[in-house]
Amino acid sequence: MIDFKYLAKKYGTPLYVYDFNNIKKNFTNIKEVFKARKSLICYAVKANSNLSVLKYLASLGSGADCVSIGEVKRALKAGIPKYKIIFSGVGKRDDEIEEAILRDILMINLESEAEFNRIEIIAARLNKKARISIRVNPNIDAKTHPYISTGLNENKFGVEIDQAKELYIRAKKSDYLEPVGIHFHIGSQLTDLKPIEEASKIVSNMLKSLKYLDIDIKFYDIGGGIGIKYNDEETIRLYNYAQAVLATLKGLDVTVVCEPGRYIVGNSGYFLTTVLYEKKNSGKRFVIVDGGMNDLIRPSLYKAYHEIEIVENDDQNRSVCDVVGPICESGDFFAKDVQLPKLKQNDLLVVKSAGAYGFSMSSNYNSRGRAAEVSFEDGSDRLIRKRESFEDLIRLEKEFL
Ligand code: LLP
Repeated sequence: MIDFKYLAKKYGTPLYVYDFNNIKKNFTNIKEVFKARKSLICYAVKANSNLSVLKYLASLGSGADCVSIGEVKRALKAGIPKYKIIFSGVGKRDDEIEEAILRDILMINLESEAEFNRIEIIAARLNKKARISIRVNPNIDAKTHPYISTGLNENKFGVEIDQAKELYIRAKKSDYLEPVGIHFHIGSQLTDLKPIEEASKIVSNMLKSLKYLDIDIKFYDIGGGIGIKYNDEETIRLYNYAQAVLATLKGLDVTVVCEPGRYIVGNSGYFLTTVLYEKKNSGKRFVIVDGGMNDLIRPSLYKAYHEIEIVENDDQNRSVCDVVGPICESGDFFAKDVQLPKLKQNDLLVVKSAGAYGFSMSSNYNSRGRAAEVSFEDGSDRLIRKRESFEDLIRLEKEFL
């Protein structure tokens, strides 16, 4: 059990706390369900990119799925070997492509013909052969929130099947490109297995047709997206997920790559925030806390549900309220119309399931320093990122008259 009250007192709030034992359990679960095959779990760094989290995952054998050269550098710094690092993303600058080639990572995952051309030109200039994979857009509706659905042709992601095939043929002939992977990722927080199964069928069929063309793809990257429980949603059983994918790979000798982010860290993280006071506006009750949408934007951005627990308060006399932050936006809330007991200054709230896309999407909006981050493992806590000070906020600014 994590003693949230103790941690809030020791480190102050707003505060992120990550349960590393749970991170380990989740990582091991995923590795386990793919054990019948060669597999590589490339943790999606964007979900939570704290160096200690990455280092911990590196020690468990994780690779990294990165979407910027910044994430690639984080992964390398944390000790993730270069041969386990993938660089994805719909838009990469030339300097990012160049650095990825020079750092000799496992593969660059490209998402358009234009990007294919850029990578080829840059590799030629460096006189290197760039290992690539192509993100295929299987045109499948992932049935998740539209902002995090990515597998339809109307989304900006990936390359249509027919075009991807042409690109593989070109890559095979190129002196500077080596096609080693194929990739799809149809969305995040997926709670329905069917779309993944269908997407994998489409992509594995394509893989088979590439084999006929003597294009030997070694890495079959199924992306991330495994949904977690925030509330009472049904989630996909990991075993069924792996079986569904593996069933589409019969007769193919490939290493399965999986890029989970949320599944590993989502329910391993907690956001601690302290009550400042309550107020009423024309009869409507608001609980105002010291954390804001700059710390955890998911409720504001996706209307995402995060369960809120009150530490040491079992008052059954509850009434409906909104839990809101201090930011100057009406969209700054953690919960709307929830039943909570009467709260007073310094009561502590724990916002659950905050380990993924929490701190990593936080900002300095309203000139607020970002929250501190703490790890918790085998009963011990450690500060893994200091709270940002005012000096941190202005460090890069110049004052002109
Ligand atoms: N691989 C690729 C290519 C991705 O685009 C993503 C997430 C992942 C893997 C990891 O997906 P996960 O296993 O975490 O679902 N900010 C949103 C989620 C955005 C996801 C973006 N891509 C949220 O807070 O729900």
